[in-house]
Amino acid sequence: MSDLFSKFDDLIAMREGLLSTGVTDPFNLVMERVESPTVAVCNGRRTILLGTYNYMGMTFDPDVVAAGKKALDEFGSGTTGSRVLNGTYQGHRECEDALKDFYAMDHAMVFSTGYQANLGIISTIAGKDDYIILDIDSHASIYDGCAMGNAQIVPFRHNDIEALEKRLKRVPEGAGKLVVLEGVYSMLGDIAPLKEMIRVSKENGAMVLVDEAHSMGFIGENGRGVAEAQGVIDDVDFIIGTFSKSVGTVGGFCVSNHPKFEILRLVCRPYVFTASLPPSVVATAATSIRKLMNSADKRAHLWENSKRLHAGLRQLGFKLGTDEPQSAIIAVIMPDLETGAAMWEALLNEGLYVNLARPPATPANMTLLRCSLCAEHTSEQVDEILGMFAAAGRATNCIS
Ligand SMILES: Cc1ncc(COP(=O)(O)O)c(C=O)c1O
Repeated sequence: MSDLFSKFDDLIAMREGLLSTGVTDPFNLVMERVESPTVAVCNGRRTILLGTYNYMGMTFDPDVVAAGKKALDEFGSGTTGSRVLNGTYQGHRECEDALKDFYAMDHAMVFSTGYQANLGIISTIAGKDDYIILDIDSHASIYDGCAMGNAQIVPFRHNDIEALEKRLKRVPEGAGKLVVLEGVYSMLGDIAPLKEMIRVSKENGAMVLVDEAHSMGFIGENGRGVAEAQGVIDDVDFIIGTFSKSVGTVGGFCVSNHPKFEILRLVCRPYVFTASLPPSVVATAATSIRKLMNSADKRAHLWENSKRLHAGLRQLGFKLGTDEPQSAIIAVIMPDLETGAAMWEALLNEGLYVNLARPPATPANMTLLRCSLCAEHTSEQVDEILGMFAAAGRATNCIS
């Protein structure tokens, strides 16, 4: 009998090698208590959270929490059904209405996760004979959506406008074309040149889908994302987003002005063949989305935090993913996985949690310590974080 697990042997060896050095497993941390969007207790120690994507700090917002509790009391713990059967409650509609208002778009469709939103929308609109032209650093859910729909996949070099144009021009005459982009790329925290990319896509007859998972709530005058910030949101055919970052709960969505959009509710398998979100989740999401519409002060403070951390880390001598802060993600580039894991552990011992990211999730085989800031981090906390990076960096010889 062949062992179907033998394909994981290299990964098992890599993991065992890393743990044999005595380092704490960076992929198995337990949050024993969570006190706020910025502080938790891990290994019995108060820990500042700097790796949660909880950009706008909505997880403990009193109105959001109260809406969830009320829905739990009034509608129960779950829907036990698909959106197209018994799984559409008043709350799901209210959540879709909140999204339509937030983005000023005609249609909104809520999925159980952002992963399923990409999987469902991409696989449903681009089939076997269609072409998907996508940035090579796209999120796994985008690639999985392309594979599920069986479309022809044409990747282009990260953020390279000319490469996108060249690929578009090579697509056979008359074939359906979908360009898939992200507003913020979450590994390095860099943003896409959406304005030029969307212009090139439209000139070549393609529809455009932009995943704004890491920009919603924060980037753009109304927090609608990078497409809004660059003045091209009206040219985007589909925006994908998630509730698991700025919105502060779980779920995913697609918004669009396409006149035939509603038909997707009947043909999109990851929407039809799964249970809908619990009433408490859609109630928290709807409340959070409506509050995010009026959060200009929080957005301004989050930018301050991002700039403060980026400048401070640079001054300490760390190599960063971007020359300037472009989003709420600051990626610290580590020389290798062993040093990255040692630094991650040293930071945890200092009382700071960040994300350790390694290939294949990262571009160019990089090991990264990814920091995601929150609008609820105070300036004093950011200074405390910089002190922790200084101490851990010196202890692991990452900086002198
Ligand atoms: C760019 C991007 N798209 C989609 C997703 C999926 O979101 P969710 O956590 O809601 O499944 C993520 C989450 O990491 C993401 O980074």
